[in-house]
Amino acid sequence: MVHLLIERLVVATLILCVSIVPMLATAETKYPALFAFGDSILDTGNNNKLISIIKADYRPYGMSYNGGKPTGRFCDGKVPSDLLAAALGIKDTLPPYYKNEDLDVKELPTGVCFASGGAGYDNKTSEFVRILSLYDQLDLFKEYKGKLTESVGQQKASEIIANSLYILSSGNNDIAITYTRGKRLMPFPKYAGLLVDWTATFLKVRDPFHQFIISF
Ligand SMILES: *[C@@H]1O[C@H](CO)[C@@H](O)[C@H](O)[C@H]1NC(C)=O
Repeated sequence: MVHLLIERLVVATLILCVSIVPMLATAETKYPALFAFGDSILDTGNNNKLISIIKADYRPYGMSYNGGKPTGRFCDGKVPSDLLAAALGIKDTLPPYYKNEDLDVKELPTGVCFASGGAGYDNKTSEFVRILSLYDQLDLFKEYKGKLTESVGQQKASEIIANSLYILSSGNNDIAITYTRGKRLMPFPKYAGLLVDWTATFLKVRDPFHQFIISF
């Protein structure tokens, strides 16, 4: 049953990826900013500044991007977080936040990306591949909020935080890395059940995910 649920989630992920962009683009809501959390599906280059085996800052990554430049996106071009930002009329690409010295403060009010390739709901996944865990990403989001407030003032910052779109892609690395390559210490249905629990806990209790969110 739970196994089936995970399969359905994976299928739903694929469907969401292809269907959500035009759907949101025609929505009347105008989001001031987009924030991406999670894994390589949404990471626009945060792993560039990490010492990890999960990196995409070399060719052929980025071969269709801006003259063939590898940017740290796990893709030949843009990733869904960029596509969504563009489709919503927010901006062309979603810049990575982590230790990004090229990040202009003018980018802060329209959103940034905290996602890190290799992340998952299972804390072991992030430890395994030494990337930014979902919890590390939330710490960065807190830091970001401070910078945003400094830049645009308390009231405007609160408006942006309250009315923006938050997207999250997570779970596939838990299965692909931690469960499959790990020691398979438990039957898969049990692990799938844990994943569902961790997901629910993360989405329910963690700011900003009690707000409107699309989870891939
Ligand atoms: C995972 O790590 C975070 C941050 O350290 C912690 O708050 C959370 O309880 C941990 N989750 C589990 C299931 O251990």
